[in-house]
Amino acid sequence: MKVFVTRKIPESGIELLKNAGHEVVVSDKDGVLTKGELIAELKKDTYDAILCLLTDTVDAEVFDAAPQAKIFANYAVGFNNVDVEEAKKRGITVTNTPGVLTDTVAEHTIALMLSITSRISEGDRLVRAGEYDGWAPLMLLGTDLKDKTLGVLGLGRIGSRVAHIASRGLGMKIAYYDISRDEAFEKEYGATFLATPEELLKVADVVSVHVPLLDSTHHLINKERLEMMKKSAYLINSSRGPVIDEKALVEALKGGVIRGVALDVFENEPLLAPGLSELENVVLTPHIASATDETRGKMAEIAAQSIIDFLSGKTPQNIVT
Ligand code: DGY
Repeated sequence: MKVFVTRKIPESGIELLKNAGHEVVVSDKDGVLTKGELIAELKKDTYDAILCLLTDTVDAEVFDAAPQAKIFANYAVGFNNVDVEEAKKRGITVTNTPGVLTDTVAEHTIALMLSITSRISEGDRLVRAGEYDGWAPLMLLGTDLKDKTLGVLGLGRIGSRVAHIASRGLGMKIAYYDISRDEAFEKEYGATFLATPEELLKVADVVSVHVPLLDSTHHLINKERLEMMKKSAYLINSSRGPVIDEKALVEALKGGVIRGVALDVFENEPLLAPGLSELENVVLTPHIASATDETRGKMAEIAAQSIIDFLSGKTPQNIVT
């Protein structure tokens, strides 16, 4: 059968599809397909399955352009780019790639946290700019993490793993908010459950965001909630950009409402809110939290396997609809 892949992905996934006997067409655009371009590509042929990316908008019009495709395998754990309700109505299966990227994203999150609290990016910029004129007692003072409280907003796989590393590796105290309470986790890490995001924001020295992007989490971190945070606190986001009101964040950073922020995701990727990149107390990475050789390869294989299973009549793992 014929599979369309919306952008070049690691070869191991493509090989799996080919070895299963499928014809694979990979978009030859070296970049994100706009929705119009995606629709035009899909209309060029008849595809039985689509392997899409988090940068693709997949909605009713896209489904219409590939009427034979009854599976869309999203190359990501997040699937806010797919209109899942519309897929459900049409009996289209949507899959994602959870689990395989948990450790990688958690490690990147910890790297972001260390980078902002130890002022690594700032120091790197200073040295590269030729401005390092010798050791100084008061130069680029950061913040210790040991015994500080990490506030985990969303205790899913990634949030739990971040908490594990922060607790066991860095000696941080753990507090968390989630829609459901995990008493076993609390016992294991001596963690404190806070019943609302607001309570968490008030006590945390570092807040790490790990919620999916839903209507209910859009701008979960807004002006009012930023103002609830400690002035000395840091905010880390490796989940989805629109969970934070980025304009309000820039204002908060300018006004000293919080001490710093480290972001791997942005509200309107790849654009940044005006002023964000000009601030020193900000670490920015380009949505690469899952970008390791190992993980990106495994994500390709999982997405490909979902398609192979579906097209051979088996129920794929990781169905989100
Ligand atoms: C995902 O899989 O949702 C990640 O954002 C990719 O890095």
